[in-house]
Amino acid sequence: MAHKNLRSAGIVGIGASVPEGVLTNFDLEKLVETSNEWIIERTGIRERRIASKGETAATLGVKAALHALEDAKMKSSEVQCIIVATITPDYIFPATACLIQHLLGAANAAAFDLLVGCTGFVYGLVIASSLVSSGIFENVLVVGTEVFSRFINWRDRHTCVLFGDGAGAVVVAPVDEGRGLLGFDLGSDGSSSKLLQISAGGSYRPASLLSVLEEAHSLTMNGSEVFRFAVRAMSESTKRALDSCGIDVADVSLLIPHQANLRIIKAAAERLQIPIERVFVNVDRYGNTSAASIPIALYEAVSNGLLKENDIIVCTSFGGGLSWASCVLRW
Ligand code: ACO
Repeated sequence: MAHKNLRSAGIVGIGASVPEGVLTNFDLEKLVETSNEWIIERTGIRERRIASKGETAATLGVKAALHALEDAKMKSSEVQCIIVATITPDYIFPATACLIQHLLGAANAAAFDLLVGCTGFVYGLVIASSLVSSGIFENVLVVGTEVFSRFINWRDRHTCVLFGDGAGAVVVAPVDEGRGLLGFDLGSDGSSSKLLQISAGGSYRPASLLSVLEEAHSLTMNGSEVFRFAVRAMSESTKRALDSCGIDVADVSLLIPHQANLRIIKAAAERLQIPIERVFVNVDRYGNTSAASIPIALYEAVSNGLLKENDIIVCTSFGGGLSWASCVLRW
């Protein structure tokens, strides 16, 4: 992003919101044939948050957004653009971003959804930064929000132990030169789209009695293939993002990886030769919250005082598509 004539853009406010309801591994033992030990050993997850009846991607997202606006000391009416990354939207359309725009009372904001997968938030952050750097907008609110619990087959032990609900949000605006987004790497490989998908409910296979009976409206996944892809994608994409701005791995203060599985995170960190102490982990408490995982992790890292001014941070993610996305920030 270090182009001449472009101003620097970065995060000036951050917030998160997770549902109060906690589902532990012991609760899951009562639903499917699994065990707390198996889930911890294979994934590192101990519990996840589950949205209550009235909570949706929009309601969780708006709470995180309000939190981020408060942190940025901004009023809703000042927001110029809202990007919502989600693959569990309230509706296929209207966009969840428009619902959030209304709930916020952000009367002056453009709003659109970004439907990529777990990588959606980092895609959104890069798009928001370029909109601000170029001068098109003075600020962009980026929200990652998911209610995955509504798209899970709760009889499938291969997937139901992995996911959770939550939301995170950031405000992107101009920052001092040399701060904010320094570099990024975005990519995709649709040839492997079937490894991770919700196969029905779109124009390819509209909802029918059969699609419901076959549970085709919930997520299916080839776990071992996705695992292999994930380790490679996060480590290689992180390197490319660092190369794009000429920063060395050794200079990274904190790596914030997509929180899908502790084994994936550790394997990617090992490939990058980043010690695990410099890798943020909260997958144990939230499971995989897809597009919300990185903003929630970033929010917790900030709240726990782990980020100092001028620290170099890398956010890296992988997900459905398949897709990958990493970005380098100077805090
Ligand atoms: N409890 C107990 N046993 C289980 C469970 C469970 N919940 N799930 C699977 N098993 C069994 C399997 O049936 C298998 O038994 P078998 O050999 O008798 O068939 C055994 O455990 C081992 O299964 P594997 O699938 O080989 O286990 P693995 O070590 O690969 O772990 C896991 C599975 C956790 C799903 C792992 O592959 C993984 O994390 N993959 C990536 C998933 C991921 O990140 N998805 C998100 C992508 S992006 C997005 O969020 C949209």
